[in-house]
Amino acid sequence: MLIRVNAEWSWNYLRPFLFYLSVSLISYLANFEKKLQMGLKHDQIKDHFFSSPLTIGQFADKYCETYGFASGKQMQKMMSKYGIVSKERARIRLENLPKAQIQSIDFGEIDNFGIEESIGKEYTSARLPEQYKKIGILSDIHVPFHSVEAVVCAIKHLREQEIDCLYLNGDTFDFYSISRHEKEKDLRDFPREIEMCRNFLQKLRDLFPNIPIYFKAGNHENRYQRYLNEQAEEFAQLHEMQFDKFFRMDVLDIKFVPDWQGMEMGDLLVVHGHEIMAGGMNPSQTTFNKTFCNTLLGHVHRTTNTIKKDGFKRFIHTYSTGCLTQLSPKYYPFAQHNNGFAIVTIADGKSKVDNIMIKDGKIV
Ligand SMILES: [Fe+2]
Repeated sequence: MLIRVNAEWSWNYLRPFLFYLSVSLISYLANFEKKLQMGLKHDQIKDHFFSSPLTIGQFADKYCETYGFASGKQMQKMMSKYGIVSKERARIRLENLPKAQIQSIDFGEIDNFGIEESIGKEYTSARLPEQYKKIGILSDIHVPFHSVEAVVCAIKHLREQEIDCLYLNGDTFDFYSISRHEKEKDLRDFPREIEMCRNFLQKLRDLFPNIPIYFKAGNHENRYQRYLNEQAEEFAQLHEMQFDKFFRMDVLDIKFVPDWQGMEMGDLLVVHGHEIMAGGMNPSQTTFNKTFCNTLLGHVHRTTNTIKKDGFKRFIHTYSTGCLTQLSPKYYPFAQHNNGFAIVTIADGKSKVDNIMIKDGKIV
């Protein structure tokens, strides 16, 4: 009887204790599981971050959703708490760098001491094939803001002069609709602009069916690539979206001269002009001070000529050509622009330039 009473008493006494023990065990196991999962997640985040080139802020913003955090800030806080930080990543990377070893090489046998080639790209100029002797140069047409009467005047003259090569020296197209500058709503019509540019190239090919046409990219043509890079990076990689393809230059047999590349015509260097930032009161004088060689450029929309003689009695000629666009645009009404174009004639490797001005649709 006494034993039974004691047993009952013990059981009654032990029951809550056992219950508490079971609950604690279950809770402990649940926490353990949670901690295990958290630990695994931290390890995963740590491995991911340590192999990533992103800063901790960029990383947290980019992957917070992937790892189940409410925000980048929250994820970054957790990462800092557990030592998943840039400093630690840098330390580990430094530790794992292969140790420098002094190699025994006979440097006398190697021209460049084995130093790798530079990945930098330098400005270059191509050379116009020698067979072209009379080159018509049209610059800064700025379609669709071209001056019809100036363009017609220039083309008429070039046809009469029977040029054997046509060189479009940059800013042939304006790309107003995709420029970074503020745009007038009424003038912004990109499809129409593109259509007019394509039609213009087609027209040039029809007017000069038997001679090579070169299309040099100027600073305005750069707007096309910049816009694609900034607004539609994926499209920028497509073959069909490359500038020359987009304007069907392969179909029209027009040769594309990329930006940052000049063209040598005899002893004359022809550039668009933005490359050498030739402005000021007399752009051809500024050009001389920069290139010190016979140079012709567009870009400044003004006809100017400079002749200088060096110490060896050699004459150096520099020219800026007029444009074929409207002369007093709304954004720059009092610009000292004039219409014009040029013809380069080459004989015995020497170039002669007729820098022609147009006034009121006529050559002056
Ligand atoms: Fe221009």
